[in-house]
Amino acid sequence: MPTVTHSGPPRVLLLYYSYTGQSKKVLDAAADVFRARGCVVTEAPIEFTDPRYAQRFSRFPMHRVWPEFFGMLPAQTLQRTGDIRTPDAVRTGDYDLICIGSPTWWDTVSMPLRSFLKSHEARNLLDGKRFAVFVVCRRKWRKNLAGVRKLAENKGGRYVDGIHFTYPGGELSSMLSLTSYLGSGEYKDRYLGVKLPPTNINDEHLEESRRFAARVADKVFGRQPQGN
Ligand SMILES: Cc1cc2nc3c(=O)[nH]c(=O)nc-3n(C[C@H](O)[C@H](O)[C@H](O)COP(=O)(O)O)c2cc1C
Repeated sequence: MPTVTHSGPPRVLLLYYSYTGQSKKVLDAAADVFRARGCVVTEAPIEFTDPRYAQRFSRFPMHRVWPEFFGMLPAQTLQRTGDIRTPDAVRTGDYDLICIGSPTWWDTVSMPLRSFLKSHEARNLLDGKRFAVFVVCRRKWRKNLAGVRKLAENKGGRYVDGIHFTYPGGELSSMLSLTSYLGSGEYKDRYLGVKLPPTNINDEHLEESRRFAARVADKVFGRQPQGN
């Protein structure tokens, strides 16, 4: 059932952490659909400020990709949280729909997003509010999507729907394609002697994100009359 009760246009928040901009890309595509339906869209990027890890994510490409990338494995496996900074939009707004952009880090929710979803601020933002999840990853999406859903529901959020975007290639080739990109900032054909599949979000993913956003908008704001 559509649930917008206040007067004025529906309000949508894009909440995400995005290191290389892929999660932001799929949310931006979705935002075009929400705006075309008369919604006011606000962005809330999470900043990762934790002194132990922030430096490696403050620059792109990574300076030393293998230690910096694998260096997140222990903390991610233990589902640790760390320091973050959030924009005022998270504290001041009242939203009808919150779209959460979640890149997978070591098969689970990234530390910056987990840190937000476990904070007191998350309850103020999510309690009683509908949310949709956009997972972006190389291959591993299930635990991330389930993790974000559970964390947001624990703060009172009401799950509407979720989508995941994955990149082509097998476990090894997609991993090499990603690490080659993270370490160089460029798309290469080969790395360490292996032929690389494409990595990152492409135009088809963006189209998929727009279709998903239209479905979510139908559920939350009501169906658009045909022909619009
Ligand atoms: C530290 C780190 C760990 C990652 N671990 C995984 C993983 O376990 N599985 C996976 O499919 N993708 C993994 N990825 C790939 C990201 O999900 C992918 O690069 C995504 O595009 C990042 O989105 P962003 O640009 O919005 O941050 C990892 C990326 C980073 C930086």
